[in-house]
Amino acid sequence: MTEIRELLLSRIRDVADYPEPGVMFKDITPLLADPAAFTALTDALAEIAEGTGATKVVGLEARGFILGAPVAVRAGIGFIPVRKAGKLPGATLAQAYDLEYGSAEIEVHAEDLTAEDRVLVVDDVLATGGTAEASVQLIRRAGAEVAGLAVLMELGFLSGRARLEPALNGAPLDALLTV
Ligand code: PRP
Ligand code: MG
Repeated sequence: MTEIRELLLSRIRDVADYPEPGVMFKDITPLLADPAAFTALTDALAEIAEGTGATKVVGLEARGFILGAPVAVRAGIGFIPVRKAGKLPGATLAQAYDLEYGSAEIEVHAEDLTAEDRVLVVDDVLATGGTAEASVQLIRRAGAEVAGLAVLMELGFLSGRARLEPALNGAPLDALLTV
């Protein structure tokens, strides 16, 4: 494992049985509180953004905001929030997706993305892939191109990558850590 991966992994805290019994929660707050680790993470994701030729970073509420916004600043490109339904004041596009129990909906301001945009989606965790898949569908429906998806960590045992591959349609999925 490279030095940066070791640093990032060392700052992620495993919390057993949260938010429900049987789930091992990956808490990134120690990483965010460590300026060296947060900077290394931001730099690594910004390098991915630059490599994909992205013109915008889309961050997925809420933890994707924390990671994605500094990446956009570092890469010198715009940041677009994809929010949980009902939070954006302007005209929106919405995309529903299934959760383990029930469903959820995310939205983006329709005017924030155009056919000229290549979008890198940034989030903390790829689990089942449902959230990321919905965001990719939303970006395409807004008329923009998906440049890729970049996450801090992929939970390999949940097979989100396999689920996402058809939606990504050849766009790269970069995970700095696979756990
Ligand atoms: C978590 C995580 C990812 C998503 C991954 O977000 O931050 O966005 O779940 O799960 P999936 O791959 O199965 O869709 P969540 O909405 O739970 O919390 P947050 O608002 O703190 O980001
Ligand atoms: Mg999230």
